[in-house]
Amino acid sequence: MNFHTRKWVKPEDLNPNGTLFGGSLLRWIDEEAAIYAIVQLGNQRVVTKYISEINFVSASRQGDIIELGITATEFGRTSITLTCEVRNKITRKSILTVEKMVFVNLGEDGLPMPHGRTEIRYVKDQFKDDEIGG
Ligand SMILES: CC(C)(COP(=O)(O)OP(=O)(O)OC[C@H]1O[C@@H](n2cnc3c(N)ncnc32)[C@H](O)[C@@H]1OP(=O)(O)O)[C@@H](O)C(=O)NCCC(=O)NCCS
Repeated sequence: MNFHTRKWVKPEDLNPNGTLFGGSLLRWIDEEAAIYAIVQLGNQRVVTKYISEINFVSASRQGDIIELGITATEFGRTSITLTCEVRNKITRKSILTVEKMVFVNLGEDGLPMPHGRTEIRYVKDQFKDDEIGG
């Protein structure tokens, strides 16, 4: 799993208990996962369909640097399934896991549209496509 995005936990991200507010974390994850799905499917019109159980494994505190990891586990006909982990960048302690997040690829009519993708595309492969005009 690649951990792309880092976040610095700031006062505005805390709950009344003084630890990272779950809603802030879920917002970051949904955005990170949506961007991942958009890049993988090559289409900006992608929506969150399903999020499985969310396990808040351990608390994060102000000043912590955390990192968000996403990877694709399945390519469907119109959907992509991702798995997610958030961990402390320094200690590597797990903060949250989401087993399954499903995003659906939409056409201009807003209906599910086949995406034709079957495997993870890495940045180097995308640049390779650009070079040959693909
Ligand atoms: C996304 C949406 C267009 C899909 O419509 P739908 O009628 O469920 O479409 P389909 O039944 O054709 O399913 C589309 C894909 O989602 C998958 N899917 C549907 N329901 C699912 C569920 N509960 N869990 C996992 N996957 C599901 C299907 O398996 C299918 O994938 P596949 O083509 O790879 O096999 C519709 O549900 C919707 O607009 N939901 C709201 C999305 C939204 O507003 N999200 C929040 C903001 S981003």
